[in-house]
Order: sequence, then C-alpha cells, then structure tokens
Amino acid sequence: MSSYIIRKTEGNTEWFRHDRFGMFIHFGLYALPARHEWVKSRETLSDEHYKRYFGHFDPDMFDAREWARQAKNAGMKYAVLTTKHHEGFCLFDTKYTDYKITNTPFGRDLVREYVDAFREEGLKIGFYYSLLDWHHSDYTIDAPHPMKFAPDALELNKTRDMKKYCEYMRNQITELLTNYGDIDVLWFDTSFAKQKTDNPLLERLDGKGSHDWESEELTALVRKLRPEIVLNDRAGVDFDFTTPEQVQPTEWKKDKGGNLLTWEACQTLANSWGYNRGDKTWKSPAQLIEMLIKTVSLGGNLIMNVGPTGRGCFDPHAVKSLEIYGEWLKYCGRSIYGCTMAEPEFTAPNGCAFTQSEDGKRLYLHIFDWPFIHLTLKNIADRVEYIQFLHDASEIKYEIAKGGGNCGSLIKEDGCKDVTLILPVEKPDIIVPTIEIFLK
Ligand code: GLC
Repeated sequence: MSSYIIRKTEGNTEWFRHDRFGMFIHFGLYALPARHEWVKSRETLSDEHYKRYFGHFDPDMFDAREWARQAKNAGMKYAVLTTKHHEGFCLFDTKYTDYKITNTPFGRDLVREYVDAFREEGLKIGFYYSLLDWHHSDYTIDAPHPMKFAPDALELNKTRDMKKYCEYMRNQITELLTNYGDIDVLWFDTSFAKQKTDNPLLERLDGKGSHDWESEELTALVRKLRPEIVLNDRAGVDFDFTTPEQVQPTEWKKDKGGNLLTWEACQTLANSWGYNRGDKTWKSPAQLIEMLIKTVSLGGNLIMNVGPTGRGCFDPHAVKSLEIYGEWLKYCGRSIYGCTMAEPEFTAPNGCAFTQSEDGKRLYLHIFDWPFIHLTLKNIADRVEYIQFLHDASEIKYEIAKGGGNCGSLIKEDGCKDVTLILPVEKPDIIVPTIEIFLK
C-alpha cells in the first residue's frame, strides 16, 4: 500500500483520487462573443449589450451523448460543467431567476441532458457554480465586476444586498443538488483578495471571501444535501480538495500544517476556459500527456477543460486533443488510474517521472526525453522482478550495473544496486513511452 497519508475530509475522495482524470466544461453565453469567458468584465460590457448573446443563444448541434462519448473515449472518468459562470447565466432550469437557458432560443435544460448522458456513460458528475455573479442585482460591484469603473459604483452598492444574493446561491445549490440525482463533485469559484492597483477606481473596491459568500452556511447546506460530495476549496472553508490552476505543480499540495491534501490541477487546452476563437495557444500532444503524468506523479488529479462553441460542440482542436489523451490512455491507463506518487525510495532519472500503483506492486517509468540505449535507475536492484513496456508488454532487458561506459558498455561494480535498462535506439511510436516495473 502507498505510504502517503492524506488529510481526511468529509467527502468521499477515494474514488476521486483513484480516477485521476476528468473533463472540465466551460459553456455559457460567452461562447458567442468567443473572446474569453471574462469578456463581460474585460470589455466592461453592459447588461444591455450582453442581452444580444442571451437572445441568440442556440447551440443547435449540442448533443450531450456526444460530449459524454468524447469524454469517455478520452479516458476521463468524471466531468464538471459550469452550471453558472461569472456572467450569471444559468444552464439549468431554476425557479430563482429568468436569466436561464430555458428562456433562450435553445429552450432546454442543458444541465439535465448533461447529467443524464454522462451518467449513462458511467462518468461521475460534477457541477461548477460561480460565486461571482455579474448579472444578479444584489451582487455588489467589486474589482472584477463589469461595472467596476462606474463613477457611482459605491453608491450603487448601497442598494445591493449580498445577504439576498447568498440566499439566492443557497436556493440554487439546493436545486442543483436535489433535482439531478446524486452529484459527485461540487466546484465553487472563487474567492479573491482586494486588488493591489494604482487605479483609484479599482482601489475603492473590495475583494470577496468566505464571509461574503456566507460560506459556512453554504457548505453546511452542501454537506447536508450530499454528504458524500467532493467539494473544492474556493468558497474558502471546509473542503475536500484544493485546485491549483493553470500551473504545473512541482510538489504534492499540502496544508499549512504540512499534511498532504487531495488536489486537482485544473488546466486548459489553450489559454481561455470558454470558447475563444482567437486563442491559438494550444498545448502540444506531448505537453498534454506530460501534464497528466506529472500531476499523478505528485499525487494529484488533472481536470482538463473544453470550451464548446456557440453551436454546442467541441471545436476540432479540442476534439484532437481529447483523442490524443484517449489513444495514450488506452495503452497506458494502468499507469494513471489507481496510481499515485512513487514511494520516496524511488528517484526518477532526469527527463522521466514515476507513478506507482496504490497497492505498491508496480512502478511506472514515464520517459519524456528518449535516451540512447541506456537508462539507469538508482538503487532499485533489490526490488525489481520483471520489466516491460506498458504499451505492448514487450520485455525490457536490464543489467544490475551503471550505464555510461565507453562504446555502450556497462559499468559493473561490487555492491551496485542500480539497474540499467537496455532500450531500443528508436523511440516506440507512442507519445510518452511508459515502462512497467513489477516489484518484489
Ligand atoms: C478562474 C477564472 C474562471 C475559470 C476558473 C476555472 O477562476 O475566473 O474563468 O472558470 O478559473 O478554474
């Protein structure tokens, strides 16, 4: 068994850590302007302007089963969909606002179709819910708000009542957690500090945190409705997992007391979360696979995002990226699902990473930089039973010796505990070759 002791929390994080790989879906009105999901804030668009997106929202090609199939084929085991993003638009049928999908030309409850289809494919179901809301009339104007530059923002805030807004959130969370069956993950987004800025118009505005969201009450409600749910950390209190964003962590995430946390890196295929026509910063196939491996090699999960287009389908680049994951995981999934950080006794060579099965019996060596014939694993000789490539189960020969001798010779010294793998000169035809080491 893995020797890592992870901080215990209320939710059921067992399956979550086992499954390791999920799909994030950012979908909303912002798919239409198609220039970042923060477009309303960034371009300080008025409600009046934004109405055009509500009036034209009609993702006619949306097919939840197709999304679910693509997620499943990509090797993803769970999904998290934006039920409401910062713009305030709800993708579900709610009693508490008219600003919802059933009132657009599309007219259907997309959340319902998502839940049914993904559940049908056997994926676990997650909801993202934005704490920010740039449409609700009781939500006070803060630095990210589209009205941040309004000269009378502070005056307007006196007419806005966050208490009412918090009640609205609790009502909607109740709807989301009671009307759609068992929900496995809840993803709140996000608390933020007051900005450091020289702009006096922004300087006057506050950040928002657990106090503003009434997070204690909010999360207590969540725990009451769905005790097993896996809850993220962005409401600022009582959480099951933490959420590094668009950064590749270099160590296992810990709390202030040094306890290991359940964590999930959330990442994008390009830069934005919502569909962004002009965003060309697509990650390469190797980057996509390496991000997943590196995350699991540090005990974390990866949730990779897709931003469907206004037609309701994944754009070709996202489709390709998902296929890349699917193809690699088809052969190498065993080194990801149910795996975690390798025991401290194992140190991966440069240009490689290790993962290890939870039961401790198999060690996986992922090779990012293909070496020339020899690859030496330090101090592992007593543990090795058998070694093979994972993708085709072909044997890897090895010697208890160091590599690096002249003309390809091995250096054998008494008491040597190193193992040198004898690898083909040509890298196997797989994005990241993975070697499976059966341990004694
Ligand atoms: C950030 C962004 C947001 C995105 C989220 C996902 O908080 O504000 O657009 O939904 O990250 O992690």
